[in-house]
Amino acid sequence: MRHLIDPTDLSKEEIKEIIALAEDIIADRKKYSEVCKGKKLATLFYEPSTRTRLSFTAAMMELGGNVLGFSDAMSSSVSKGETVADTTRVINCFADIIAMRHSVEGAPLVSAMNSRTPVINAGDGSHAHPTQTLTDLLTIKREIGRFDNITIGFCGDLKFGRTVHSLIKALSKFQGVNVVLIAPEELKLPGYMKHEVCDKLGIPYREVESLEEVIGDLDVLYMTRVQKERFLDEEEYDRVKDCFVLTADKLKDAKPEMRILHPLPRVNEISVDVDNDPRAAYFRQVENGKFVRMALILKLLEWADKPSHHRELISKDVIKGEHRCSNPKCISNTEAHAVEPMFRPSADGNGLRCVYCEHRPVK
Ligand code: CP
Repeated sequence: MRHLIDPTDLSKEEIKEIIALAEDIIADRKKYSEVCKGKKLATLFYEPSTRTRLSFTAAMMELGGNVLGFSDAMSSSVSKGETVADTTRVINCFADIIAMRHSVEGAPLVSAMNSRTPVINAGDGSHAHPTQTLTDLLTIKREIGRFDNITIGFCGDLKFGRTVHSLIKALSKFQGVNVVLIAPEELKLPGYMKHEVCDKLGIPYREVESLEEVIGDLDVLYMTRVQKERFLDEEEYDRVKDCFVLTADKLKDAKPEMRILHPLPRVNEISVDVDNDPRAAYFRQVENGKFVRMALILKLLEWADKPSHHRELISKDVIKGEHRCSNPKCISNTEAHAVEPMFRPSADGNGLRCVYCEHRPVK
């Protein structure tokens, strides 16, 4: 069985295969218009979404398949306390593939652990958003022409921005990628991303607090929204919510071939006067999301029964039963009666990380 829970679930070759298939779909959409006839995608969205849910829906429809699911978990039996594992087993009776978005970190992994069909993580809390990453990669390929040898600046909420974490992990597979982290102190990239992803995988990065000082160096500027819904303290959100606003004036020092990406939705971090600049790629990025999700659905359905594409979801060196996760938004805490805590040795050799959300155990 194959799932997509984290961008690291895909090898570099598999990423390239999905991107190439998406480009072929763009070149000849008619060829793919019936390839999923008789197949059903379940979209289980426990958290709000516009792009991801509707692009998955459009993707399956354009492949000739059907879609079922919910966009408000409170209209499902989740409101009566049904667990992610039980909901997954039920949906397995109706659909061939699942796309799940959840505010609880690790929920798509628990779904995959209990599923007879492929599960796609459509975003889990502040943790990961691998299909946004595939969207970003296809956009970089189409706009810049390459993944290797690029300087990419991530700007805004690097602490809670799951799209940032996922894209950095995926870019680590390519050569010559330089990362510039542009964020205020409160929104800096978490330590595990710096030490266990960038340092361990050899991605050079530098941290700055001013966009103006680096904008001229960038091939890609990846803007992000400050994620109000992830803050536990509203005053802290108010302090940082307007930390970076990209305006047409600030682009005067940027390269003519630089591209601006944003996973969207935006609030006010990109002024509307930037939208008509040819460097603004964020609405083209949305459409790429549909094509890459078409490619992903096809590949996961193809790989599901191939032993050569089988991957273990949980590594054999996990430690069970001795610790509890320190993250209140981890599924091992929100569904403590149903989900067994599991930890793996940290990649930097320093302690343990939760298998579901990558946080540390409670001390
Ligand atoms: N980029 C993204 O995930 O958008 P939605 O939250 O609207 O799905």
